Amino acid sequence: VALLVTGSTGRLGGRIAGRLAASGVEQRLLVREPWRAPRLTGAITMRGGYTDADAVRAAAESIATVLMVSATESADRVDVHTAFIDAVVAAGVRHIVYISFYNAAPDATFSFARDHWHTEQHIRETGVDFTFLRDNMYLDFLPLMLGRDGVIRGPAGEGRVTAVAQDDIADVAAAVLRQPHAHKGATYDLTGGEALSLHDLAAHLSRTTGRPVRYEPETIEEAYASRAGHGAAEWEVTGWVTTYVAIAQGELDGVSEAVERITGHPPLTLQQLPAG
Ligand SMILES: NC(=O)c1ccc[n+]([C@@H]2O[C@H](COP(=O)([O-])OP(=O)(O)OC[C@H]3O[C@@H](n4cnc5c(N)ncnc54)[C@H](OP(=O)(O)O)[C@@H]3O)[C@@H](O)[C@H]2O)c1
Repeated sequence: VALLVTGSTGRLGGRIAGRLAASGVEQRLLVREPWRAPRLTGAITMRGGYTDADAVRAAAESIATVLMVSATESADRVDVHTAFIDAVVAAGVRHIVYISFYNAAPDATFSFARDHWHTEQHIRETGVDFTFLRDNMYLDFLPLMLGRDGVIRGPAGEGRVTAVAQDDIADVAAAVLRQPHAHKGATYDLTGGEALSLHDLAAHLSRTTGRPVRYEPETIEEAYASRAGHGAAEWEVTGWVTTYVAIAQGELDGVSEAVERITGHPPLTLQQLPAG
């Protein structure tokens, strides 16, 4: 077995592991709760979280390539990632394929995109081979922006987002993991094929839900005020609000050809996803 896959109990990692198994690739799955791991031909489950250094080292023993799904957002996500990277590198892993974020930068408007840049930077500094998949927002999650009252609210102005389906990201990741050498050192921007405004999203949701949906831009101050009182921590609220601000600033706009180039098929559109 040459491949260690993380995140297989989740939406994206589960799709990737499933595709790899379907094409006959053997893999180890690192999971926190083995009973939740997908049961796949050629897959062996290993128990461990990203910060369990001994468990990660054991799982990565004699492994050449690791698929690293970014951890659930937290105040210390970069530390969690750093611990995982250090453990797999110590175990002798030679190539990390990391699920990063579109326009990851130390000063990205979207605060979680900064975590991704710091993670990429740590991977670069270890000297290991890498492939970075810089996913735009998940198309699958756009419908979650809709409030119960049929209004999408956020400080996204008239900006656009080239959100990308998790199925397409999984197709790219599986292709990369089948031939990691061919993708050494590459950074791929993974986007959908259409730049959507939140008005476009509202029109789509009106059609799929059968009730009127509209987008009402908020100011940044209104956005923080409307999300206060949910009991969420400050870093989390900042993450929610800055997603929209990043859209307003054009940081989630722009179409990349990478999905089509690597998978041979065009990216899914919002209309093609199951109604949500
Ligand atoms: N581009 C976007 O729009 C967007 C939106 C939301 C999130 N994300 C990022 O993309 C990632 C994948 O998305 P998803 O929809 O597949 O999320 P998901 O369904 O929540 O899956 C996350 C996976 O990562 C595992 N994981 C998280 N923290 C971990 C840790 N500390 N140690 C070990 N495993 C850990 C989870 O394991 P458990 O099952 O044990 O929890 C799960 O298998 C997310 O984790 C997040 O970083 C991106």
